[in-house]
Amino acid sequence: MNEVMKTIYERRAVRKYKKTAVSRDIIEQLIAAGSMAPSAMNKQSWKFYVLTNKATIHSFSTEIAHAAFKEVKHTSITDAVKMSLSFFHLSTIVNFITSDDHIFYGAPVVILITAPKADDWSGLNTGMCAQNIMLAAKAMGLDTCPVGFARLIMQTKDYASLNIPDTEMVELAITVGYGDEHPAAHERVKNNVHFVN
Ligand SMILES: Cc1cc2nc3c(=O)[nH]c(=O)nc-3n(C[C@H](O)[C@H](O)[C@H](O)COP(=O)(O)O)c2cc1C
Repeated sequence: MNEVMKTIYERRAVRKYKKTAVSRDIIEQLIAAGSMAPSAMNKQSWKFYVLTNKATIHSFSTEIAHAAFKEVKHTSITDAVKMSLSFFHLSTIVNFITSDDHIFYGAPVVILITAPKADDWSGLNTGMCAQNIMLAAKAMGLDTCPVGFARLIMQTKDYASLNIPDTEMVELAITVGYGDEHPAAHERVKNNVHFVN
């Protein structure tokens, strides 16, 4: 199989990391790969806020988990379970309960990707950028996990310390590190392709 295809098939959401640090040079290469993603009207309006301080990552993780818990408290149990299952695979939920870093899984690096609130394409642009980062990381021997929960960082008390302008929102975070688990691939949905003549 060609190297790109191999990387695509081998990437997994990894939720356990070794303590090994990731060099600044590697982080910069990953972000450069992210920036090579296509963007609507070539706006490239993503921005990257990189967290590498262990205490800061852990503290945001705890605050986000609290914010998530508050949201869940305001929904019925059935809705909360439905919401979680629509977002996450069951193994993620088990991981969430058993890990001591419920959001960023002890990763040494967290990249927050922000984009303008006022742009309808921000979500798609960010998704493409994030996928480039995750595939580049895999190709360089690292692992990642996209963390949608990280959007709740905007509700944390320390959010202001990130100096993210009001016009931007955190679309997604990506944890980056040297993986310490090898999850099997989740089965992919089939029979969803329609060739139309
Ligand atoms: C937009 C988006 C948000 C996600 N948010 C989270 C998250 O907050 N926490 C988490 O552990 N995994 C999160 N995931 C990872 C998915 O659970 C994971 O990609 C899915 O189970 C498929 O597994 P795979 O990536 O190993 O193929 C997210 C994935 C995407 C695309």
